[in-house]
Amino acid sequence: MFNIFKKRSIKINEQLKLDMDNIPKHIAIIMDGNGRWAKEKNLPRSMGHKAGVETIRCIVKECNKLGVKYLTLYAFSTENWKRPKEEINTLMGLLIQYLRNEFNELHENGVVINHIGDITKLPLSCQKELISAYEKTKNNTGVTMNLALNYGGRDEIVYAVNSLIKDFSEKGILKQPIDEKTFNKYLYTKDMPDPDLIIRPSGEQRISNFLLWQCAYSEFWYSNIYWPDFGVKDLHKAIADYQMRDRRFGRVK
Ligand code: IPE
Ligand code: IPE
Ligand code: MG
Repeated sequence: MFNIFKKRSIKINEQLKLDMDNIPKHIAIIMDGNGRWAKEKNLPRSMGHKAGVETIRCIVKECNKLGVKYLTLYAFSTENWKRPKEEINTLMGLLIQYLRNEFNELHENGVVINHIGDITKLPLSCQKELISAYEKTKNNTGVTMNLALNYGGRDEIVYAVNSLIKDFSEKGILKQPIDEKTFNKYLYTKDMPDPDLIIRPSGEQRISNFLLWQCAYSEFWYSNIYWPDFGVKDLHKAIADYQMRDRRFGRVK
């Protein structure tokens, strides 16, 4: 009868137990290490990116199962345009393929296929595919998958400032001071909670222009595993570690 007061947890294995009442609402992942994964195997970088897509499939599924509400995946940064044209084309091609191949399963599982970043710079075919996937899935109730494409934290802040100025000028209230809450409404992530947990595999410990505004109080989790080798067990490890953290948000406990 008092079951509702009981902690809900699932045992992953002897060492790992997840508290189902403390699953991060928003997980963000810097999907890094595809190139090095391929290099280690004497494969072209494109094969690393292909393998990386397989990882996305498992991780989205598991996040949905665990009840994560938002999963933001850094797939292409504003700086990634500096890569060779051939690699950029491969990445854009993989994006379209992913959206086409996975659409039915994602939709059936209630996933909302969303995107953040300035997608107007992507090839038209990618833009069409992304908009159509969002339109068809926007009323789903499962995890919202934000594909961060041509995304940069600084670019997002500048975009937000410009949108705000335009909006405020039109309303004739430009001289009014703004607060954080108002500013937040002009970001790509408006209406979403800030990421609770940011995961970066591949051994790098840097933010690489990801969610600069939103990461103010995110917990970080790094691992040396390359993204194509990142599995459900690594996701569980990251969440279990997150659940041990004491999030104080500046307060005294
Ligand atoms: C991440 O893997 C994928 C993208 C940035 C698109 P990388 O391609 O950066 O792989 P590494 O860092 O070179 O190993
Ligand atoms: C960050 O990875 C961007 C994505 C994963 C899409 P990068 O490989 O581009 O980052 P740096 O250049 O190592 O910082
Ligand atoms: Mg990289």
